[in-house]
Amino acid sequence: MGQKLVYVPECHSTSSFLNELNNQSQLPEGTVIITDHQTAGRGQRGNVWEAEAGKNLMFSFLLRPSFLPPAAQFNLNMCISLAVAAVMQQEVPQSVRLKWPNDIFVNDKKIGGILIENQIQANTITASCVGIGLNVNQERFSHPRAASLHNFSQLTHDRSEVFEQLLKKLEDEYLKLRAGATDLKQRYLKILYKHQTSGRFASAEGEFTGTISDVDDHGRLCVEVHGAMRRYLFKEITFLE
Ligand code: BTN
Repeated sequence: MGQKLVYVPECHSTSSFLNELNNQSQLPEGTVIITDHQTAGRGQRGNVWEAEAGKNLMFSFLLRPSFLPPAAQFNLNMCISLAVAAVMQQEVPQSVRLKWPNDIFVNDKKIGGILIENQIQANTITASCVGIGLNVNQERFSHPRAASLHNFSQLTHDRSEVFEQLLKKLEDEYLKLRAGATDLKQRYLKILYKHQTSGRFASAEGEFTGTISDVDDHGRLCVEVHGAMRRYLFKEITFLE
């Protein structure tokens, strides 16, 4: 991971840039693009990813997880999320949690997000662009639910040091996934935000109270509502609190 590393002081989006480069000429697995500032950062659900220039970490890397059946792609999701959460946990004393599917949370605030874009051909994941945005030293946010490592540690974190740790951990977890790791879900559930806790949600059926009990093999969130299990794909459910 990072043997081919491209640093650009500014770009539209490291994920868009990586996808463009890879479409021009096949990039080697593990290629990383990192920037200090994005002018058109992309988040999940078509959202914009905003981050102050020079204070945070924004990078994307290319994987070729052809060993993973597309139906099991949530395993990659868990693998990446676990690596990022572990490194973030070294930086703050508070507990780092993963909000399904892969937001990085501390105390009900989002400190980072992951955007995974898979290219699938003939039932094989031929390329996976993993974009990671982490709020590191930024002090103020316009969004009330956003925060940074600095907000929790009161420290100025060395971005290069955190980035180096991330690349190591991401490679480590990815190699475990490729070797057939079977403990991913158990580790993911252990740090899942609001796992086994009653909360308010909204779906096409309206608002309801439920308890997150599991994540199934398709990566669907399993929520227990009045004794019955409901399963939701990404975009089918919103956390209301
Ligand atoms: C989310 O939580 O919505 C996912 C955010 C992902 C943001 C990162 S920043 C680096 C990479 N480039 C992008 O345009 N997006 C991802």
